[in-house]
Amino acid sequence: MLWFLLLLGVSGVLGEPSQDEVFSLPGLNTKINFKQWSGYLEASPGIHLHYWFVTSQQDPTSDPVVLWLNGGPGCSSLDGFLSENGPFHVNDNGSTLYINEYSWNKVANMLYLESPAGVGFSYSDSGDYATNDKQVAENNYLALLDFFRKFPNFTKNAFYIFGESYGGIYTPTLAFKITDGAAEIHFKGFAVGNGLSSRYYNDQALVYFAYYHGLIGDTLWSKLNQFCCTGERCNFHNNTDRVCVELIRHVQDIIFDSGLNVYSLYMDCSGGMQRNSARFHRDIENLFRFYQFHTVTTREAAHKMTPPCINGTAQWNWLNRADVRTALHIPQRIPVWEVCSQVVGEGYEHIYDTMQDFYLQLLSKGLRVLVYNGDTDMACNFLGDHWFVRSLKQKKTVEYQPWVCDHQIAGFYEQYGNLTFLTIKGAGHMVPQWAPKQALQMFKSYLSHSPY
Ligand SMILES: *[C@@H]1O[C@H](CO)[C@@H](O)[C@H](O)[C@H]1NC(C)=O
Ligand SMILES: *[C@@H]1O[C@H](CO)[C@@H](O)[C@H](O)[C@H]1NC(C)=O
Ligand SMILES: *[C@@H]1O[C@H](CO)[C@@H](O)[C@H](O)[C@H]1NC(C)=O
Ligand SMILES: *[C@@H]1O[C@H](CO)[C@@H](O)[C@H](O)[C@H]1NC(C)=O
Ligand SMILES: *[C@@H]1O[C@H](CO)[C@@H](O)[C@H](O)[C@H]1NC(C)=O
Repeated sequence: MLWFLLLLGVSGVLGEPSQDEVFSLPGLNTKINFKQWSGYLEASPGIHLHYWFVTSQQDPTSDPVVLWLNGGPGCSSLDGFLSENGPFHVNDNGSTLYINEYSWNKVANMLYLESPAGVGFSYSDSGDYATNDKQVAENNYLALLDFFRKFPNFTKNAFYIFGESYGGIYTPTLAFKITDGAAEIHFKGFAVGNGLSSRYYNDQALVYFAYYHGLIGDTLWSKLNQFCCTGERCNFHNNTDRVCVELIRHVQDIIFDSGLNVYSLYMDCSGGMQRNSARFHRDIENLFRFYQFHTVTTREAAHKMTPPCINGTAQWNWLNRADVRTALHIPQRIPVWEVCSQVVGEGYEHIYDTMQDFYLQLLSKGLRVLVYNGDTDMACNFLGDHWFVRSLKQKKTVEYQPWVCDHQIAGFYEQYGNLTFLTIKGAGHMVPQWAPKQALQMFKSYLSHSPY
C-alpha cells in the first residue's frame, strides 16, 4: 500500500510532481501563501533544464501560467526570480530572503526556466554546451511540454511567455514552436522586455540615442553624419566605409567602455567605473556585431561572468549555499551557479538577425504581443524596439500617449491591434527590478487585456 502511494506521488498522477515540491527555503522566515516546485524538465535526450515554478497568490486555478526567460545568451532566469519579479529577493550576504511586494506571482503562476543547458543549474549529460537559436527554441519547447506533463492541472490555464533581452530571440522562436506544434497549450500571447528584436534597428537607433542623450558630442556626431550617411540615410549597422567603422568604434567605446552603466544610463556603475571590461559580456556582444569589435584584453575580464556594472553577489551567495541547493533539489555534481555562463555565451551560434517574420506570423495567429522597454537602457534601447515594432506595419489603433501609475506618468505606449509598444520612463534593462510597481501594473494590464 505504501509503495503504491509513493509511486502515485512520484509519477505525478496526483497532479503535481511531489518530489520537486519545495517546502521550505533557507533564509525565508515568512509564511508564504503559494506553492512552489523546483527540479528538472527534460528537453532533447540528455538535456535537463532547471525550473522553479511558483503558483499564483491570487487564484492558481484560473490565473494564467507565465514562463519567464532571461537572456544573454547564457544568463539565468533565477536572476530574474531573485532580483526582478520573483516572490522573494535575497539580501546582500545571501542570508535572508525578503518578500517582493511587486512579485508577478501576485496574479500569475510563474515558471522560471534556466535555458539553455549550461546556464545556472541546467546541464547536459554530454557536457557539450555549444548551441544555437534553433536548438534553444526546440529544447525550450520540449521542456515546456514536459512541464505540462508534470503539472497536468495547469494545462487548462491561459499561457503566456515573457522574455527579457536576448529573450527577444528566445520568446518569439518558442512562441512559433508552440503555435506550430500539436500540444494542447492555451497559448495567448507573449511579451518582450528590452529585447533584441532586430540587430539593424538596435544598432541604428543606439547611435541616435547616444547623441540625443548627450553622450557623444557634436564633433563626433557631425563626422558620423559625414562618413556614415548619404543624404538623409545613415547606416550605423553594417557600414563598410573605413572612416565610418572607426567612428562607430568610438561610439561603442563611449557607450560600453568608458564607465557608463550600459543597462541603465542614469544609474551608477556598481563597483565604480569599469574600463576595458564591459565588452566581454554577451549582451554587449549583441551590439554592432557586424564590426566584430570585441577583443579580449585581460584575463580577468575574460572570466567575468556577471554583466558589467551589475552586482550579482547576493544571488550568487544564496544560490550556492549547500542547504539552498538541497532545498531546490539540485544534484551535488552540478557546478556552482553563475548569473551568466561564459561557456554557453561563447559556444552560442546566432542564427537570426531579426524577429520580423516571427512577429508577423504570430500576430496573424491572433496572439497578443507586448514589446516594452525601460527607456534608459542602452543594451537594447527603446528607440530600436520602437522602430522594429513600427516596421511590422500593423494598423495603428491607439496613438502614442502616456500611461499612468501612482498619479505619475509611468511611460508611453501605442497600440496596433494586438501589438503594443510601451516604455517605462526612467527604467533600465531590468524593468521589474528598477520599476517594480510600474512593471507589475503593466503585467496585470497586459494579462487582463485592460488599458495600460
Ligand atoms: C491539482 O489536482 C489535484 C487532483 O485533482 C488537486 O488535489 C490539487 O489541488 C490541484 N492543484 C491545483 C493547484 O489546482
Ligand atoms: C547578513 O546580513 C544580515 C542583515 O542583512 C545580518 O543580520 C547578518 O548578520 C549577516 N550575516 C553575515 C554572516 O554576515
Ligand atoms: C546590412 O544590413 C542590411 C539590413 O539588415 C542587409 O539587408 C544588408 O544585406 C547588410 N549588408 C551587408 C554588407 O552585410
Ligand atoms: C556587491 O554586493 C556585495 C553584497 O551585497 C557587496 O559586499 C559588494 O561590496 C558589492 N560589490 C560592489 C563592487 O559594489
Ligand atoms: C487579436 O487577437 C484576437 C484573439 O486574441 C483575435 O480574435 C483577433 O482577430 C486579433 N486581431 C487582429 C487584428 O489580428
